[in-house]
Amino acid sequence: MKVHIKTYGCQMNKYDSELISGLLKSDDFELIDDIEKADAVLVNTCAVREHAENRALSNISQLQNLKKRKPGMILGVLGCMSKHLGDKIFEDKTYVDLVLGPDSYRKLPEILNSKKRYKDIESRYDESYTDIFPTRKEGISAWVAISRGCDEECSYCIVPFTRGKERSRPVNNIIDEIKRLLDEGFKEVTLIGQNVNSYNYNGLDFPELLEKVSGIEGLKRIRFATSHPMNLSDRLIDVMAEEKTVCPYLHLPVQSGSNKILKAMKRSYTVEKYIEITEKAKIKIKDLAITTDIISGFPGESEDDHKLNVDLVKRVEFDGGFTFKYSPRDKTEAYTFGDDVPEKVKIRRLKEISEVLRECALKKNREWIGKVTEIMIEGKSKRDNSEVFGRTGGFKKVILKHNNLSVSTIIPVLIKNATSQTLFGELIEYSYPPKADPPPAEE
Ligand code: 5AD
Ligand code: SF4
Repeated sequence: MKVHIKTYGCQMNKYDSELISGLLKSDDFELIDDIEKADAVLVNTCAVREHAENRALSNISQLQNLKKRKPGMILGVLGCMSKHLGDKIFEDKTYVDLVLGPDSYRKLPEILNSKKRYKDIESRYDESYTDIFPTRKEGISAWVAISRGCDEECSYCIVPFTRGKERSRPVNNIIDEIKRLLDEGFKEVTLIGQNVNSYNYNGLDFPELLEKVSGIEGLKRIRFATSHPMNLSDRLIDVMAEEKTVCPYLHLPVQSGSNKILKAMKRSYTVEKYIEITEKAKIKIKDLAITTDIISGFPGESEDDHKLNVDLVKRVEFDGGFTFKYSPRDKTEAYTFGDDVPEKVKIRRLKEISEVLRECALKKNREWIGKVTEIMIEGKSKRDNSEVFGRTGGFKKVILKHNNLSVSTIIPVLIKNATSQTLFGELIEYSYPPKADPPPAEE
């Protein structure tokens, strides 16, 4: 059976699609890119905002036409939206054959072979897919899930409902997977979870896991996402500062710059605390880059609260960030707060914050001009064949004139120019060991 998977949503969802590919790795199934040739199309969906659901829903409606042309084709809806709207989808859209939630993928090969209509959106706390090795498409950084689900209670967020309670994956299992990835040629991994810093497997916490992973021979770079500010402990900062393979990069969603809104969001920290944590991390971790997420137009957000968002972005000087219009989600606490910020106001505030974030990113990127940094080559630049691009430890994209550098090479470059999105570098001559510093100039 030929299977095509279409994925929406976050890294965790993309990882789940790789996991599903791993599950379907047998003689019975072949994963294909060409949807026209597929016997089964699986849409792995996201539920975080209404917009994400609408996109997936319209894609599913379009697939009804493909099904008409290809009778017998199986159409499956997977992922977070299945958990959220699965009952209704299964009832109303009779052309949808399968509806599976994030904890129900294990039986997928059987279900596909049975060719029966099937729905399973149960939450299973004991399902971590620990024994399944995902099949990855070629890439630079392989995602490795270290936990599933989320125990936080952020009032706006549907994820604890769609993905259930947090479960940490056994350490040995994570290490085995990383070693296999190294054998496959990967040199960088990104440890992922809804809240990676709260990882705890039989008392072994995230800083300790990072230390263990850093000790794996041959692994060049380690990234992780997403971090919750409340769990960014001093020990974690120390491990990031000490372990050279851990990239100096934090995606640390702040969500709001107003204490009133943070409280209503149940984020369990204040703006002052967030600033304190980021300052501490910046002092200890050399060249640390911090990016964030901000929600605009949360219920009760006044113009003053919005200004506080802008102030916070300027104060922290983020290296970049994502802004989202608040989207009410049923099953969440904030759903009961109403949705009182008019759409037009949300859009205007979103634009303003995005603009300030862009200015900060430009400022931070320009600080790199004239400095040397290491990048890992990711591939040829799309716009010019004589250029390659790579990423700094801080996850900044660097474009470089060169047409003969293979993927995953780590090289030092001199940064010559910068926009808010990209750095432009030049290969420098380097020798190892480095030449001694020149003697200080005479006074
Ligand atoms: N509305 C808007 N944005 C949301 N996010 C999570 N839930 C919502 C919501 N209901 C954002 C948060 C989170 C990111 C992945 O999505 O900023 O960090
Ligand atoms: Fe990922 Fe959240 Fe979307 Fe689920 S709802 S796919 S966890 S972003």
